[in-house]
Amino acid sequence: MSQQHEVQETREGFASKIGFIFAAAGSAIGLGNIWRFPWLVGAYGGAVFLVIYLAIIILVGITMFMGEVTLGRYAQRSNVGAFKKINKSFTWIGGIGLIAGFMILSFYSVVGGWVIYYFLRSLIGFGMTDPALTEQLFSSFISNPISPLIFHTLFMALTIWICYNGVKDGIEKYSNIMMPALLAIVIILAIRALMLPGAAEGLKFYLVPDLSKLTAQTALAALGQVFFSLSLGMGSILTYGSYLGKKESIPQVSLIVPLMDTIIAFFAGLIIFPAVFSYGFEPSSGPGLTFVTLPAVFSEMPLGQLFGGAFFFLLFLAALTSAISLLEPIIAYMIEEHNWNRKKASLTIGGVIFIVGVFASLSMGPLSGFKIAHLVFFDQLDWVSNNLLLPLGGMLTALFISWLWGTQNALNEVTNDGLLKFELGNFWANVMLKYIAPALVFIVFITGLGIF
Ligand code: PFF
Repeated sequence: MSQQHEVQETREGFASKIGFIFAAAGSAIGLGNIWRFPWLVGAYGGAVFLVIYLAIIILVGITMFMGEVTLGRYAQRSNVGAFKKINKSFTWIGGIGLIAGFMILSFYSVVGGWVIYYFLRSLIGFGMTDPALTEQLFSSFISNPISPLIFHTLFMALTIWICYNGVKDGIEKYSNIMMPALLAIVIILAIRALMLPGAAEGLKFYLVPDLSKLTAQTALAALGQVFFSLSLGMGSILTYGSYLGKKESIPQVSLIVPLMDTIIAFFAGLIIFPAVFSYGFEPSSGPGLTFVTLPAVFSEMPLGQLFGGAFFFLLFLAALTSAISLLEPIIAYMIEEHNWNRKKASLTIGGVIFIVGVFASLSMGPLSGFKIAHLVFFDQLDWVSNNLLLPLGGMLTALFISWLWGTQNALNEVTNDGLLKFELGNFWANVMLKYIAPALVFIVFITGLGIF
């Protein structure tokens, strides 16, 4: 029996469509929704960012999501292997995704550590609504040379431990309790925030676009955030697609997961912006926005300690399932292509990412003087991976599927379940995936980078 045959026969699958949906949603829903999305909305002028973000989700995000699931399910391989199986000369497209995942996890784990600290802190109760105080709490924590490193170590150790033991499927099963719980608490907090005095001002900022604030940089930031939030452009969703049963409907799952992800991000904005304006925070304060705003909300809320604790705990779990989906493709690559064993791959790759993350964390404090292009190391990792590598990887994947593998082959894979007659299929493959999505990414990309 050929090795290829063996791999196929022993390949696990998700027991059901629901299994895929929760695993993919576990990857998509995370810090991107609660931490990065509100930060960017605030920094890029409010509603105008939201509008562009939603437009890109519809025009590029869903198309690309479906493309990755389709390629993965057809190839029955993870990221790099899928490209290799179809055309050996383009294996490097998968390689871009590995580098992106590596860079993202190194700063993601630092923020995951912040969440653990805020979880513990919320149990004691924040007891502060003054912006000066919550900002002081955040900045003195992240710039401390020791404490954020302890929590980064804890978060990364957990991620490595789960991948080392190969128990990620077990962990992902928790997603079916965690995700609805996270949604419920986010809705409760949004209702609470909307009742704050002055909330209307925040709603206006978040929902009424001021088109004069639209710039090429806004569009590029929104594009990067779509890829980041949906876990696209680096092979995570592709890998999950390879586990999706042949009988399941690809169009259906490709609508449900992006929809869930977008709803959570949208509600996060409905918490943050009413609170920002009610308490007098600065909406464009950057990566700390969520962390400086929420303590004020919990401090003045009935049962605030309980809600705060539950919220940060759920956010921590959501971050962990996303972190696993960032590390796992690199481990799978080392196992499949370089014959490493799982333990060696988890410890080595996880260890190197941990060390890079240490420098990312220190760049918020002791190393904040080292800047390239006005950005500290943490921001560089974020900018290069989300604004360069993910859109590039995504665009090349769309072109690879539609021009090299072929839209007819992709369509055969999408519609072979026989359950859902996919009438929009032709439009998806021959218009959206082949032209519109890659062209839009390209235009936003070169204008945003100032090349054009
Ligand atoms: N989508 C995750 C989030 O929004 O937090 C982050 C992420 C996970 C990005 C996996 C990319 C990825 F491949």
